[in-house]
Amino acid sequence: MKIDILSLFPEMFEGVLNSSILRKAQEKNAVQYRVTDFREFTENKHKKVDDYPYGGGAGMVLTPQPIFDAVESLKGDTNAPRIVLMCPQGEPLTQGKAEQLSKEEHLILVCGHYEGYDERIREHLATDEISIGDYVLTGGELAAMVVVDSVTRLLPGVLGNAESPERDSFSSGLLEHPHYTRPADFRGLKVPDVLLSGDHAKIQKWREEKSLNRTIERRPDLLSEEVRLMQENKENQ
Ligand code: ADE
Repeated sequence: MKIDILSLFPEMFEGVLNSSILRKAQEKNAVQYRVTDFREFTENKHKKVDDYPYGGGAGMVLTPQPIFDAVESLKGDTNAPRIVLMCPQGEPLTQGKAEQLSKEEHLILVCGHYEGYDERIREHLATDEISIGDYVLTGGELAAMVVVDSVTRLLPGVLGNAESPERDSFSSGLLEHPHYTRPADFRGLKVPDVLLSGDHAKIQKWREEKSLNRTIERRPDLLSEEVRLMQENKENQ
């Protein structure tokens, strides 16, 4: 997979793309990252990439020309890259969205700044708009890093079996069960007996229950209406 990132601050990506799993993913040729400063594409003699909003108001708006030209030049011979605008108005990033993007051949992530993008970028260039949460960042860079990370770890060969993404929180629709490792007794804090029992069926049942209870307590929004009703019925009995 190829992932292009368009940003006015390419230096922000150096540490993130060249550390840990993302670095290994490139070394294994599972992914190729390329970060491009779209200011290089502006035809404006002062290198400007933004301008005042028509109709007045505070803040500057990213102009279409440098972003259209940069995307068109990065498209290369991929027939239909996904062109993703990072913005707080976008579709919320979910595990499902990361899985969908991980099946693509080429992603182009665009990091906005200032008040936002000229609407023609949204309407006539972008294929997707993604938000990483209901808060406003100073720019799309951190959000793009989150997308790159969540997509890269799903690419074939990137994670070993032990870290297999199928067992992640959210892949099953539920949060993960608690984990424990040695020692069995840490300052008097004991590991639950069931995990030391060697009874795999019992352990599996315990994990499923913990996973469900944790999801009910912390993220009931993740549960389908059906599961929620089941739980309510159980509580009312
Ligand atoms: N740019 C600014 N805030 C953002 C957010 N929450 N998600 C994605 N891009 C953004």
